[in-house]
Amino acid sequence: MYERLRRFLFRLEPERAHNLGSMAARAGQRLAHGLLEKRFQFESDRLRSEVLGLSFANPLGIAAGFDKNARLIRFWAALGCGFAEIGSVTAKKSRGNPKPRMFRLEEERAIINRMGLNNQGAARIARRIAAGHPAAIPLGVSLTKTHDPAIQGQDAIDDFTTSFSACAPFASFVVLNLSCPNTAEGRTFEDPNALDELLKYIMPIRSTMENPPPVLVKLSPPVADGVVLDSEVDEIVAVSIAHGINGFVASNTESGRDLLDVSDERLASIGAGGLSGPPLRSRSTELVRYLYETTGGELPIVGVGGVATGQDAYDKIRAGASLVQLYTALVYEGPAVFRSIKMELDELLERDGFASVSDAVGVGPAT
Ligand SMILES: Cc1cc2nc3c(=O)[nH]c(=O)nc-3n(C[C@H](O)[C@H](O)[C@H](O)COP(=O)(O)O)c2cc1C
Repeated sequence: MYERLRRFLFRLEPERAHNLGSMAARAGQRLAHGLLEKRFQFESDRLRSEVLGLSFANPLGIAAGFDKNARLIRFWAALGCGFAEIGSVTAKKSRGNPKPRMFRLEEERAIINRMGLNNQGAARIARRIAAGHPAAIPLGVSLTKTHDPAIQGQDAIDDFTTSFSACAPFASFVVLNLSCPNTAEGRTFEDPNALDELLKYIMPIRSTMENPPPVLVKLSPPVADGVVLDSEVDEIVAVSIAHGINGFVASNTESGRDLLDVSDERLASIGAGGLSGPPLRSRSTELVRYLYETTGGELPIVGVGGVATGQDAYDKIRAGASLVQLYTALVYEGPAVFRSIKMELDELLERDGFASVSDAVGVGPAT
């Protein structure tokens, strides 16, 4: 059924299609929640796990960026997502970059975006998640700095702590999106010294909270295949651990274009932006594996990048991910993608003799 809808949506400009799809999802979560549940749910005890002190009915969630303003939380639950990550949310509301800012690369089933953190701002979004608190599924809130190059230094830290204070009380977990490549000032908080400064402010606020949520750090993908990352990642990990960070999300979109077999003209017509979808898959899995090995499997990792099948999710899990997310596959495959991935993942776990998804985390590639 999605095939026909997709043909229609793909005739539209990508952001319009996204907005239309989101509107339909909002209507669906209000009017047809039960129907959606019936159509899309798949449960298995093998997929249940405890991660970050939270219970997950399955390890598959919607990644940050699709539901920036937290309007679709009941929809994600009805689709059978094990969790949802909303945002990224910033202290001040933002319209983001000028349009067009989202592009499909249909042959690669990929997306390039430079949305630039359009969202309604922390105060408004916090009110919305507070009204629905606690959500039906674990709710991650992605936070990042307001898209405004004039906000730098201590102001940038204050900006981040403002959104943390507003949203964290209603979050099952918080993700600090350090790596958004789509802002004029670039990857500010991925600099280990800047991250150190930021966490000096964030973590003490967290420790004064009545129910402090776990805090995770989201990273960019490695810069080249096969290289496992340089000292910058090691430093980010060391700083994060020193401040008591609870886990990592790997990875954000890729700024480079070397993963693509697309004409230079086409790429030039698109311009800057983060690449997502299958071309990113192995690089982000590599980062998952690297983080798992570096941390000795002590800190949970959320694996994201190019997941479209149960096998893709399984590969991330075997590389070290306790939870898995997707965004781009939802655009190309439609809402049934969560169910089909869960079913296939369940079969793969059973085939390989795992009683629980947690037992497969970090076991390494299948031989
Ligand atoms: C249009 C779009 C907007 C995104 N916005 C955000 C965002 O606001 N915050 C964030 O942390 N990641 C954002 N992402 C990145 C995704 O969360 C994810 O890390 C990335 O797309 C790789 O996963 P995928 O290949 O399954 O799409 C965005 C991705 C896309 C395609």
